[in-house]
Parts: sequence; structure tokens; C-alpha cells
Amino acid sequence: MEETSFISSSAQAAVPFLTKWQAPSNIALIKYWGKTEPQIPKNPSLSFTLSSSVTTTEVDFTPNPSGAFQFEFYFEGKLKPDFHPKLNSFFERISPFIPWIRDYALKINSQNSFPHSSGIASSASAMAALSLCLMDRERKLDATVSDETFFQKASFLARLGSGSAARSIQGPVTLWGKNTIQSSASDLYATPFGIDLHPVFTSYQDTILLVDKGSKPVSSSQGHQLMYNHPFAEQRFIQATTHLTDLVSLMKSGDLEGFIRIVETEALSLHAMMMTSNPYFILMQPNTLAIIQKVWDFRTATKMPLCFTLDAGANVHLLYPEANKEAIRIFIASELAVHCEGGQYLFDQVGSGAKKV
Ligand code: DP6
Repeated sequence: MEETSFISSSAQAAVPFLTKWQAPSNIALIKYWGKTEPQIPKNPSLSFTLSSSVTTTEVDFTPNPSGAFQFEFYFEGKLKPDFHPKLNSFFERISPFIPWIRDYALKINSQNSFPHSSGIASSASAMAALSLCLMDRERKLDATVSDETFFQKASFLARLGSGSAARSIQGPVTLWGKNTIQSSASDLYATPFGIDLHPVFTSYQDTILLVDKGSKPVSSSQGHQLMYNHPFAEQRFIQATTHLTDLVSLMKSGDLEGFIRIVETEALSLHAMMMTSNPYFILMQPNTLAIIQKVWDFRTATKMPLCFTLDAGANVHLLYPEANKEAIRIFIASELAVHCEGGQYLFDQVGSGAKKV
């Protein structure tokens, strides 16, 4: 599908409208790291959609007689002008695709289910929830919009806010970026993936160990930029693409040993890119490494399929089947909580995607 097919042609008069959507966070198994304008990934990525880590956003659309688009953003009930520049560039980017937005003043009210200084990237769930509210308005203007188009365009808009947000619309597994295993996959939006995956992945657990709740010294956007002129970039994009093909086949057969090998390689390759950028940087912390070592020791000793992945930060996501939940949670509480800031960690699991509330 071309970008231009996402331009809304609706010419109806603006009317007041209120909507509220809840969108989940996601954790990538195959990582997106490196992009070109406009938010086109250098390699395909695959993620688990989460269930409990969500952003809920309400948008109040008021017809704006002055004809100049305006918005206010509230987080947990408080006006947050600091977020306005980022949202302003998002609206500038998406307004050619939703020209009707210019007839409105928006009041946006957002809240997260997870503690806001947890170091969990909330931009994916936040951009996804906001995009779904915008699509809800668009569907009111044009009742012919099918569910498929609704979710595709929501993912398309969310991507223009934050790449990984494209994968925070549907679930339980989503795929974003052109690749050879699914010819319909797109660089412009993510799609739900893998109805034929092994059933173990329909209830896979993700426990997020909060190693560092502070903000990151290098943002994802800066990290993506450092993949330009990176000495290993081309090899990394090939590796991610090969990993995707291998991972999908392992996830279909339910080969957890193979799954773990690729998921952990992806996490460490992502951080290896950071450590070999110019300038180089390290987002892992001593506690991140202590956890990884304990996870490996636990796996060797118990043969339980517990593995880790990392996003662009120090926190660790522990992935494991629901069947091993009890024993692994005892291990987390007794051995790993000590490496978390304030002993804090969050239980989550794969989820089915965003919903209207
Ligand atoms: C390491 O989606 O946060 O989490 O497109 O610049 O907003 P922008 O970047 P972002 O990058 C996510 C990077 C990652 C890997 C992933 O989620 O695939």
C-alpha cells in the first residue's frame, strides 16, 4: 500500500466528539534499530504485545471556528506543556493524512498503568492510544472504513509518532517492516502476525525488572541516528532479517531452545550496536549484567526456558512460558528483586491489543 492511500478525503463539517482508547506497550523480540525518513525501518521487527502495561488516552474534539488547529495535553489530569513540542511535530507529520484535524481544538488526557518514572518506554503505547482516538473520529466521518483499514491506519499514524508504536495496536504478536516471510508486510504499518504460532506463545509471560527508573542518557531517536555511518550497520540489518526468518520457524514449532538463542542474541546485538556507535554509549548497568548472569545460571541448573531481552535501557524483560510461572516467580523474588531499583518489578504477559474504553 502507498502512503497516499492513507490520505482521508472526508469533507464533513466538524462536530463535537469524545473518545477514549487503551493501547498496550510492546516488547520487541527482533529489534528495530536504524531508520530512514519518514520513520522507515532499516530491518523488519517482531514483538509481543503486552497486556497490563497500557496507556489510556481520552481525546475531546471541539470544533474550532478560528480554523487554526490547537491542542492541550494533560498527563494524569495535569497540563503538561513540556510534551507539546513532541506532539506538535507529530500533528504536523500526520495532518496531511487527516486534514479534517485542522477544524478542531483537542483536549488530550493520558495516563499510564505503570509508574511514570519506571524507565519503561511509554511513547509506543501513548502514540498508539492517541492514534486510535484520531482514527475513531475519522471512522465517524466515514462509516465505510473497515476494521482492517482502521487498525492499519492507526498503526501508520502511530509509526509517525514513534516507530515501535506501530506495533502497539494489535496482538498478540505483531510484525512491522517488509520481509520475505510475509509478502503483505509493510514498512508503513505493523500487522498482527502468526495465527499458526505454537500455542505456548499465546500466554507467554513478561516480567519487567526495573533496574533503573530514571530517564535514559541517550534517547532511542539519538541511537537510531547513530546507525548512520555505523561500521557494523549493514551487517546488523542483515542479521535482524535472518533472525526474523529463523525465529518465525522456531515459534511455529515451539522450539524454546532456539527461541531463547535468537531472542537473547537480538538483545545483545542491539546493545553491541550502542557500544560500537560513534560516539559510543552503554545503557546496561551492573545490575543488568548481574541479572543476565543469574538467568543463565538458573537456566543451566533447572533447564527451565527462562530468557531475557532488553530494550533501549537498563531494565530487563524476562520471558517465559505460563507453565513455568510459579517456579520462575519464586526465583525472581528471591534472587533478582535485589538488583531492581526499590526492589520493583512488573508482571505482564502477551495481550490481544488495544481496546476502546
Ligand atoms: C530498542 O520506537 O523508541 O525499543 O522511532 O525514534 O521513536 P523512534 O524509536 P523507538 O525505538 C525502539 C527501539 C527499541 C527496539 C524496538 O522496539 O524494536
